[in-house]
Amino acid sequence: MPDIRPENTDQKTVRILGIETSCDETAAAVVENGKNIHSNIIASQVDLHAQYGGVFPEVASREHIRVIYAVVEQSLKQAHLDLKELDAIAVTRGPGLAGSLVVGLNMAKALSLASKIPLIGINHIEGHLYSAWLNTEDGQKVEEPPFPLVALIVSGGHSTLILMHDHLKYTRLGGTLDDAAGEAFDKVARLLNLSYPGGPSIQKASEKGNPLAFNFPRSRLEGSWDFSFSGLKTAVLRTVKEISADGSAIPVENLAASFQAAVVDALATKTFEAANEFHARDIIVAGGVSANRVLRNAFTSQKYFKVHIPPLTLCTDNAAMIAAAGYWRFLSGQRDGLEIDVLPNWPLT
Ligand code: KG4
Ligand code: ZN
Repeated sequence: MPDIRPENTDQKTVRILGIETSCDETAAAVVENGKNIHSNIIASQVDLHAQYGGVFPEVASREHIRVIYAVVEQSLKQAHLDLKELDAIAVTRGPGLAGSLVVGLNMAKALSLASKIPLIGINHIEGHLYSAWLNTEDGQKVEEPPFPLVALIVSGGHSTLILMHDHLKYTRLGGTLDDAAGEAFDKVARLLNLSYPGGPSIQKASEKGNPLAFNFPRSRLEGSWDFSFSGLKTAVLRTVKEISADGSAIPVENLAASFQAAVVDALATKTFEAANEFHARDIIVAGGVSANRVLRNAFTSQKYFKVHIPPLTLCTDNAAMIAAAGYWRFLSGQRDGLEIDVLPNWPLT
């Protein structure tokens, strides 16, 4: 791979349109040099899917089709830029729901064909990683994370621990053996009768709960960098069943707080161990679950590592992060042809 330091390129300003439709957010953004956000438009489908208790794939694809044109148009308008003033169109190619990814990729292809602007396919997990390089939407500068670093990407679909050696150079250390962290939040919320999406409702319920009320298992998986949350989920289910068999009221707030504490403990412990082992002083935590207050606190309330966590709006799915990853891919020389297809199960490394 060529040296992709920005100082080695003649082009001082690279503006990229990002498009993201991997799950239930239709998003478009314009970002300059991988960090300055000119616009960041997100049309969320959360309310539409809440009635099903999770993302309904066909409904998601149709909703993407309905709004994508307006979302892209709005992102250009808010950035005060014409399509022809952009350098590339970066779009999520995977992982994600095939029917949702197809909508964003086809939109990006059509724009690329019409404007002759290069197309760059982006891995959604790489997008979450690069959210740590973005300045805030109101222009506050963010310190660039130095290498090597350890990154924990925790979302509804992924829980991955990565060693990042340099831009675009990764080693995957581990990941979940069963449920992703966000998926565990969503499933436990459902069994506690809390609303979808589960992460924010568990966080809310746990504010009035005692995290020490139940001592749920933390699967340590010694000797590996993997996580597992299915045992924890089963333990919550068993506890709920035992309490209801007794005819007692379900202590939802204590269960939520104790579950949340167990997830955060498992994620933080392993990430700190990895940072220590690989001599990384800096840690990135990103993805939807990194919006969790207790998780953020577990990472930021220690002084051994510097932790980079994006602001809440950049933790959950957005297109600014896709445009940010697109910038580094653009500098590396990546250009994709109009024949590229979606990759619903695309691993980062
Ligand atoms: O990154 P994201 O928007 O989409 C995927 O790529 O999956 O992450 C969505 C996930 C959902 O499982 C949601 O429950 C979780 O992030 N989430 C949270 C919080 N906010 C969103 N989990 C825990 N605490 C939160 N505050
Ligand atoms: Zn995501």
